[in-house]
Amino acid sequence: MTTRRDLLKFSALATATAAMSTFSATAALTGVARASRLLDILILGGTGFTGPFQVQYALARGHKVTLFNRGKRPSPEWPGEVEQLHGDRDTGDLKALEGRKWDVCIDNPTSLPFWVRDAGKVLQGNVGHYLFISTISVYADGSKPGITEDAALAPYKGSDAMAETRDTLMADVANLYGPLKALSEAEAWKQFGERTTIVRPGYIVGPRDETDRFTYWPHRIAQGGEILVPGDGNDPVQIIDGRDLGEWVVRLAEDRSFGTFNACGPDYVLGTDAMVQGCHAVTGGPATFTHVPTEFLEKREIGFPIWVPASHPMYGGYGAVSNARAIEAGLTFRPLATTVADLLAWFRGLPEERQAKLRAGPTREDEAAVLKAWHEARPG
Ligand SMILES: NC(=O)c1ccc[n+]([C@@H]2O[C@H](COP(=O)([O-])OP(=O)(O)OC[C@H]3O[C@@H](n4cnc5c(N)ncnc54)[C@H](OP(=O)(O)O)[C@@H]3O)[C@@H](O)[C@H]2O)c1
Repeated sequence: MTTRRDLLKFSALATATAAMSTFSATAALTGVARASRLLDILILGGTGFTGPFQVQYALARGHKVTLFNRGKRPSPEWPGEVEQLHGDRDTGDLKALEGRKWDVCIDNPTSLPFWVRDAGKVLQGNVGHYLFISTISVYADGSKPGITEDAALAPYKGSDAMAETRDTLMADVANLYGPLKALSEAEAWKQFGERTTIVRPGYIVGPRDETDRFTYWPHRIAQGGEILVPGDGNDPVQIIDGRDLGEWVVRLAEDRSFGTFNACGPDYVLGTDAMVQGCHAVTGGPATFTHVPTEFLEKREIGFPIWVPASHPMYGGYGAVSNARAIEAGLTFRPLATTVADLLAWFRGLPEERQAKLRAGPTREDEAAVLKAWHEARPG
């Protein structure tokens, strides 16, 4: 539960951070010490959501960075030298990686076992460490709090996992994403043995997050008025800033930390109330918050992003996944206020039409309709 002390902490940090936010995804990071052991790092992907934060941090630590992707996205202006290799993992075109050696390979975008198998064929023996970005969706049972890395994984119910493609995955993402990530993990262990690291994030949020799932909250709260808070405000929420994740992944590589880690934040229990109050401390402005019980929302089939009721029969544990092992291995979390201030600074720099239509969360009209119904139904 969030205490009054937490809320005061958010508020003080928020005031300071909102005033200072000068976020840029690709500026040189300042105040980052050079690593004591410099690495040649191969990053598969690198130009999407979290990859650029790995690049930014790796360069600041003094490492050499090579990216491998299709070159379909505009390459950011990196704050240092970055080698760019091109190929296509959908078609198995990995020629650009042949005959090269790196200390570590960070595999960001993979959800298909054959992508790992093919990477293994080219990179086995040529990389000293393989670090795979997975997900907490791999767990078979997400209903209870405290899921640890040793929990059972979701079974694959299709006929041939190696034949699954991005098209087949997207056609049934709800049933296939977790199991195919789990089988990709298994393939990673098979290809790279004990020099494998599996990182399982929950919701990744902050600047560059194009899903708008967490963004819904600061954006909506900045608009002000009466804001619907789902549940009683105590359901726990877990998020991780993409920069905390990206930077920690580089440190895992530096430390040669092998094994499997949940990557969820923060390092305290963040209730839904504390999340919205933390956002409000950054946005300021006139806003009131109205709790609407989970059952009332369920009857109206309205959902809110990031929030999962602790009573949810399938995902009730998603706000309370164990992050003890990751914290032990050096995962740190910037304050919520920093994430919110930087996220808003980034989001407000997007084209107006992009900002006008959020990709997650209810519309203002749907929210207002439920609030109206709740006020009418509420006794007294
Ligand atoms: N977002 C969340 O909340 C969340 C939660 C849990 C786990 N995750 C996992 O976190 C990871 C996040 O990835 P990210 O977007 O941050 O990674 P990223 O490295 O920043 O971006 C994805 C990269 O993959 C490259 N790519 C895409 N298709 C390719 C292909 N066929 N061949 C070669 N390269 C290709 C893209 O470049 P091109 O398009 O130019 O090829 C891009 O560089 C994913 O594994 C996701 O499952 C996300």
